[in-house]
Amino acid sequence: MTMKKAMFQEKAQVVSNTAVAQNYYRMSLLSPMVAAEARPGQFIEVQVSQSGEPLLRRPFGVHAVNQRKQTVDILYEVRGKGTQALSEKKPGDFCDILGPLGNGFSIQNARCSILVAGGMGVAPLAYLAEKLARDKFSEQKAKNLVLIGCKTKRHIMCKKELEKFGYAVKISTDDGSLGFKGYVTDLLEKVLRVTRYKLPVTIYACGPKPMLKEVSRIAREKNISAQLSLEEHMACGIGACLGCVVKTTNGYKRVCKDGPVFEAGSLVW
Ligand code: FES
Repeated sequence: MTMKKAMFQEKAQVVSNTAVAQNYYRMSLLSPMVAAEARPGQFIEVQVSQSGEPLLRRPFGVHAVNQRKQTVDILYEVRGKGTQALSEKKPGDFCDILGPLGNGFSIQNARCSILVAGGMGVAPLAYLAEKLARDKFSEQKAKNLVLIGCKTKRHIMCKKELEKFGYAVKISTDDGSLGFKGYVTDLLEKVLRVTRYKLPVTIYACGPKPMLKEVSRIAREKNISAQLSLEEHMACGIGACLGCVVKTTNGYKRVCKDGPVFEAGSLVW
């Protein structure tokens, strides 16, 4: 998708690290070089503890960039030792980070952009949403929509900031505690059925694999272009271990290096 970009290693200072929902945190890191280069859909690898335990870096999609403050934000869920250690970081602490990594979204001149987020998939899509709003909305009388799917209403994030960017935001929850009851892909089908949208439409999606597979099917059936950001497990994050390969119409590709964003039609499920 996008061209290969420069990659940096920085000792990034934690500016803030706050809880934003049940078990979810937003961390802002002072990182001038990464902030200058990071594009929507790219990610950073963060060494979660300086003592080396846990050893591996963890990948996080770039959630926001503030060029003036030279900060890069990530959004994360506390799920194990690594993210627990990250949640304990205080402003002034340092994190060793590597990035920006991977190939991000290719921003299309669509009349209508539909962003589809499953769970934590909203993290990188929020940065894309901001870019699209800034660069594209003024040029087009666009109808732009974000669909966020979560387990319950307690897990919903970023709704207000996406609305501030000018999007209509629709929610689906598995338990029906807010918005549409069911999967976000069912909501997508419903939206495409009832909304009058003007072609060309582009779907940008990020979330668990089964969700992305469904998005891919829907896009194919409706003849809509779609870009999918895969949340594959990553070890090295820099293309060396081959631990993240996926099958594509052009052979096996590394999610961390060749992705994480792929054209929906190029993936073999
Ligand atoms: Fe090692 Fe992708 S995580 S090659």
